[in-house]
Amino acid sequence: MRDLDSFEQNSHQDLKFLFVVDINYFYKIMNICCIGAGYVGGPTMAVIAKKNPSIEVTVVDINAERIAQWNSDVLPVFEPGLDEIVKSVRDKNLFFSTKIDEAILKADIIFVSVNTPTKTYGVGAGRAADLKFVELCARRIASVVDQGKKIIVEKSTIPVRTAESIKAVLAANSSGAEFQVLSNPEFLAEGTAIADLENPDRILIGGDTTPEGKAAVETIVSIYEKWVSRDRILTTNLWSSELSKLVANAFLAQRISSINSISALCEATEAEVDEVALAVGRDSRIGPKFLKASVGFGGSCFQKDLLNLVYLSEHFGLPEVAEYWDQVIKMNDWQKKRYGQKIIQSLFNTVFDKKIAILGFAFKKDTNDTRESAAIYICKDLLEEQAQLSIYDPKVEGEQVIEALGLQEDEGNLLGVSVVNDPYEAAKDAHAIAILTEWDEFKALDFQRLYDNMVKPAFVFDGRNLLDINRLRKIGFEAYGIGK
Ligand code: NAD
Ligand code: UGA
Repeated sequence: MRDLDSFEQNSHQDLKFLFVVDINYFYKIMNICCIGAGYVGGPTMAVIAKKNPSIEVTVVDINAERIAQWNSDVLPVFEPGLDEIVKSVRDKNLFFSTKIDEAILKADIIFVSVNTPTKTYGVGAGRAADLKFVELCARRIASVVDQGKKIIVEKSTIPVRTAESIKAVLAANSSGAEFQVLSNPEFLAEGTAIADLENPDRILIGGDTTPEGKAAVETIVSIYEKWVSRDRILTTNLWSSELSKLVANAFLAQRISSINSISALCEATEAEVDEVALAVGRDSRIGPKFLKASVGFGGSCFQKDLLNLVYLSEHFGLPEVAEYWDQVIKMNDWQKKRYGQKIIQSLFNTVFDKKIAILGFAFKKDTNDTRESAAIYICKDLLEEQAQLSIYDPKVEGEQVIEALGLQEDEGNLLGVSVVNDPYEAAKDAHAIAILTEWDEFKALDFQRLYDNMVKPAFVFDGRNLLDINRLRKIGFEAYGIGK
């Protein structure tokens, strides 16, 4: 058998089909199917389609409404640059469909990009990843495919060794087909998804070390090689790839919890956390990124993946490891709580019936995603104290805010919450403004105008250290940042 690593892939631009050829194993790639049209499936496949015009990419989902949105002028995901890419390839070589079985049958490669939330029931509830959607995909693939070769790619973030279960489900339920299961985790961040996809730090592909496995890995490499240089494409064994995704998120979250812990120490010592972060980050061994103190990290993944890492460590009999990573989550929970408390204490220990303007509800700027947003927790704490919240976010719809806060309308009124379309309206007659997302437009607000229309003393709580606190104080605000 020849060494597969030494094969040169034919990447001639004019080829209609892409062949990764070995004497014994080859995959002809004409069709890709992606199951899951979410924040990852949609943008990732749009970029793959754009960079591989000869490959037909179909993104499928059980959620018909989401598919209809992907086929409309208003995409379900807000990402800078996404609209242009989707419009340039949609209905050419990128398709969004609810015909899941048809797309699976046609595909040479099937990406599984479904949600893997934290389990809410049974063993591991509140910590383990819920793999029911991933398993359902494997069962569906097995029930539809009964011949030929297909590559199944785990795009979702999953616990280490999930490929083992997928392989078992496929093997037990499909009669004549041959499957290779690979791991190709996604590292994009929301708000910068297109830039991250077009210029990734690395692409990670894990597979079996058998000749068949290596050929499958090289097939996926050939797709990314259309725009990512080979030295940025890492190939590993399956388990390293699966685990690296969880570890990468854990390390990023750990940096935020580290700087947030220091923000509390700064407040006690008159040090300034942004200055400390700058000084510490200038050490090239540490680096400047992900050292921005905040109201706490949010998003659909950091907490979920940390919880999963903690659960896995316990599962493998490593309680010290579990405890170490659990602390990153605890520090984040404490930071969110601490911020709500700070607002309440500063407003003379009562926010009862006081109007508070909440500027920003998304978990970070440039996204409409509110999953696990720190704003949810802080708003809930303020509502518990019977504050009146007026919430403004440039990209988050009112309905989404209400759902995230778990509120129900009471005869057309929402107890304690109004969602408005204008930051000045949010702050009118308010006692305080709390900035919970770092939207750029908040920097350009006319704070004198806001101040003039607020109850005095007027407070600003800048939970993102976005604003010039001294300037706000000159206007007359009682202004607080994080870690200063
Ligand atoms: P999402 O909830 O936005 O999308 C998942 C989609 O899968 C949904 O539209 C859902 O209807 C669909 N789905 C679920 N089960 C299905 C089934 N059996 N058949 C067809 N469709 C099905 O989730 P997401 O944010 O895109 O995340 C997907 C995965 O990628 C998760 O594992 C997540 O951890 C990981 N990830 C997310 C991000 C991110 O920024 N959101 C980044 C990297 C990795
Ligand atoms: C994160 C990772 O950055 C991605 O690499 C990964 O693919 C993704 O999770 C995932 O697996 O889902 P994302 O959650 O979209 O991406 O956004 P981040 O930029 O990482 O921000 C996460 C949270 O941390 C946000 O609430 C953000 O405001 C906060 N954050 C980030 C800080 O508080 N301080 C920082 O310095 C950086």
